[in-house]
Amino acid sequence: MSTTLRVEEHDDRVVVTLSRPEARNAINAAMVRELHDVCAALEERPRLLLLTGDGGTFAAGADIGELRERGRDQALQGINSRLFDRIARLPLPTLAAVDGYALGGGAELAYACDLRLASPAAVFGNPEPGLGILAAAGACWRLRDLVGASVAKQVLLAGKRLDAEDALRLGLVAEIAPAGELLKRAHALLDRMARSGPLALRLTKLVADAPGGHPVTDDLAQAILFESADKRARMDAFLSGGRS
Ligand code: COA
Repeated sequence: MSTTLRVEEHDDRVVVTLSRPEARNAINAAMVRELHDVCAALEERPRLLLLTGDGGTFAAGADIGELRERGRDQALQGINSRLFDRIARLPLPTLAAVDGYALGGGAELAYACDLRLASPAAVFGNPEPGLGILAAAGACWRLRDLVGASVAKQVLLAGKRLDAEDALRLGLVAEIAPAGELLKRAHALLDRMARSGPLALRLTKLVADAPGGHPVTDDLAQAILFESADKRARMDAFLSGGRS
């Protein structure tokens, strides 16, 4: 039973809404635990994941009340970084629908997803140095991969906030949709992915994220897919004119 999330299970996707609106969906230990439960369910039965936030905020960061009390040993546990890595490694694609603030750990959670959509009110930022700490749950390297070192350093070192237009221009988000249509657009994007072969999607994600080993990993993944009945059926359908 979640106290910080609303979780809707569907056949091909799970929709998770971060829901601590009184704390702007700040990520506390309970939310971390509950997100790990979601990951366990998706590892066991792979489905697409849509992550969003309640009340016009995605997430305003890690819970500062908890962060203040954490010491070296908790930092070394990688409480948020391990969760976000687990989310990044989920078998099927993940999508963050960001309305309002995605700051600190909230931004890092969005960066860990495969794709992001924004409402016009979306704001991404990493104000951690202003609190005397480092953005240690992915921003220092994922953001650079997503938008390049120059912009990443403006965000990380100079406190630059990226609004929805910035995020679109930089490719950080796939599109901007009005807040009232954000989830509809997110589901449409997931629908498009859901029409692909699930094993093909899964192996593509695995290979695209593989740190090295190309092209061997690509060839091995393709070898698996070339033998699949799904590939033959999809190609037969194409060749007989039944395009999807
Ligand atoms: N951790 C814990 N509580 C948080 C929080 C966080 N990261 N972000 C917001 N809250 C709480 C506030 O303390 C406040 O609680 P209160 O009502 O008991 O006083 C409540 O959420 C509402 O926040 P408030 O600042 O009044 O809302 P706002 O709409 O004016 O501003 C933000 C929204 C996101 C701009 C602002 O809350 C903020 O800057 N949050 C911190 C962002 C941050 O530094 N994140 C990095 C953390 S590593």
